[in-house]
Amino acid sequence: MKQVTKAILPVAGLGTRFLPATKAIPKEMLPIIDKPLLQYAVEEAIDIGVKEIIFITSHAKKAIKKHFLQNKDLEESLLRHGKGEYIQSINPEKFKDIKFTFVDQNEQKGLGHAISLAEKCLTEEDEAIAILLPDDLFIADGKSCLQTLADLYNETSSSVIAINEVADEKLPNYGVIDATKISDSTYEIHEIIEKPTIEEAPSNLAVCGRYILTSAIFSSLKKILPGSGGELQLTDAIRDLLNSEKVIASSYKGAKFDCGSKQGYVEATISLALANKDINKDILKSIQALIS
Ligand code: UTP
Repeated sequence: MKQVTKAILPVAGLGTRFLPATKAIPKEMLPIIDKPLLQYAVEEAIDIGVKEIIFITSHAKKAIKKHFLQNKDLEESLLRHGKGEYIQSINPEKFKDIKFTFVDQNEQKGLGHAISLAEKCLTEEDEAIAILLPDDLFIADGKSCLQTLADLYNETSSSVIAINEVADEKLPNYGVIDATKISDSTYEIHEIIEKPTIEEAPSNLAVCGRYILTSAIFSSLKKILPGSGGELQLTDAIRDLLNSEKVIASSYKGAKFDCGSKQGYVEATISLALANKDINKDILKSIQALIS
């Protein structure tokens, strides 16, 4: 079995829930403290050994390409102004040997459609790929969410997806699984439904935005029809994959923020601010003053 070396990050969505902020700035480039949301997911992928990041993007999101490619002019300008210490932050060592690929999704036909566009970037060597939805920000204490999936994939050679438990009223926002528990934190999936009603939901186990899927997912993506919201859904392709392969769910217990929603975005900002040694004391004082 080959190591997972490619990750797909779909970032072509319209970000309507964050308008007007996302009129000119891609949602994925909104900062959590001083780093764009997207960079947290990129770093999580690089940390498991990914060597190529495939962004599914749109022509309206030029800032994403600009952010991940080297900017010699800015580096020279920082040096001229005696601020060379900032160069590491705009051109991190971690990005040195990483290939950033940009694939345009011209029409937002859904997450399944976005992922299908990455097929041309894969070779026969790629037995599986990582998929990260950057809206979901995971703050791991130890092993990252994606690393846990990668370890499980290396152990089982099966597709693995991250799940967490959500309250009934949140189920209609997610893909929800029906599954049998196989260990403390893993399940074998039998069924997966995108955005079910509370009555339809087979469990409270919802898919969160990290996946390692075998390359067979691309055949499944070719078979699906528009589903929930009239969009081509990755969940429906995973349901098709279940007909031919085992798919494992791994329960994620660490902190996770849905930064595609205003509430999750603000919670993530507060949480990372309180974890940041440079500012946490002052932020805590401000919060205490606001609520007293
Ligand atoms: P979301 O539905 O959460 O993102 O898609 P969105 O469409 O940008 O947000 P709203 O609902 O309009 O506020 C999950 C992920 O899939 C990507 C999004 O960019 C996001 O990272 N996506 C979605 C695509 O790349 N293409 C699509 O056609 C749809």
